[in-house]
Amino acid sequence: MKITIVGAGKYGSTLAHRVAMADYADELVMVDVVEGLAQGLALDMNQARPIEGFTTRVVGTTDYGDTAGSDVVVVTAGKPRTPGMSRMDLLTDNAEIVGGIAERIAQHCPRAVVIVVSNPLDEMTALFQRASGFPTQRVVGQAGMLDSARLADKTAGAAGVAPTEVAAITLGSHGDTMVPVLSKLTVGGKPARELLDEDTLEGLVRATREGGAEIVALLQSGSAFYAPASAASQMVQAVAQDTGQTLPACAWLTGHYGIFDVYLGVPVALGREGVRDIIEMELATDELDALRRAAEAVRDKQRDVDDLV
Ligand code: LAC
Repeated sequence: MKITIVGAGKYGSTLAHRVAMADYADELVMVDVVEGLAQGLALDMNQARPIEGFTTRVVGTTDYGDTAGSDVVVVTAGKPRTPGMSRMDLLTDNAEIVGGIAERIAQHCPRAVVIVVSNPLDEMTALFQRASGFPTQRVVGQAGMLDSARLADKTAGAAGVAPTEVAAITLGSHGDTMVPVLSKLTVGGKPARELLDEDTLEGLVRATREGGAEIVALLQSGSAFYAPASAASQMVQAVAQDTGQTLPACAWLTGHYGIFDVYLGVPVALGREGVRDIIEMELATDELDALRRAAEAVRDKQRDVDDLV
């Protein structure tokens, strides 16, 4: 099992460390344009192996030739937001970066399953698929895992319970048209609506939508990476170990939920072939409407990226 992570910034390197420590890959390649960065981090991670007891070989490089034949590729490269920016403000700059990476990955890793995490997420996932020419089944985006975790953590805080007591899922886009699914939000197995009033729930939805910006504003430089890396690492594991686990992810829809031909966040069963299945969960009418509105909002933007490929 060979896994490549493109981009050795905080997101990429934190993810690399998690994947290496989980120890299911023979080789983990980190590739970055900055000379020495991925190489230095790889040396450092390898030197943790005798202490932690993992055997995955970490390789740092600037050369895409070293990624050859990877089974799974995660694309973290791109500029992060600065305070006050929306993810969409990154569109043009990151389209150029992600488009270039897609061409190189298509050349060196033609059979890989690709997980995109660069922002704006839904558009960069669509762009990677178009620029690589990969089947849609083999290109997915990470956002739903992260947004669901944010909703769960904030709900746990409001309800005064441990975060592990909350089950949460968000669908739709990784942006303004995110759809936190309140009908499925549970605390200790009970519907959250039985425990929390509507104002509190609305506040949780808002806080989840703004969860990324909240962290960007505090950090002043760079964006979140611990929870995002945890989210991506679960997706990598589902693919690498062919678990078929159902996770919220950005996937290509061909009529699911009545939505056609767009990349959007939905529950997806992930395995070695990429998207094994898209799960159509039962949604309240307002949630289904919100999901369809999200589809129309991202469809226009995804059409725009066609011009950038
Ligand atoms: C966030 C960025 C990574 O939501 O999109 O934190």
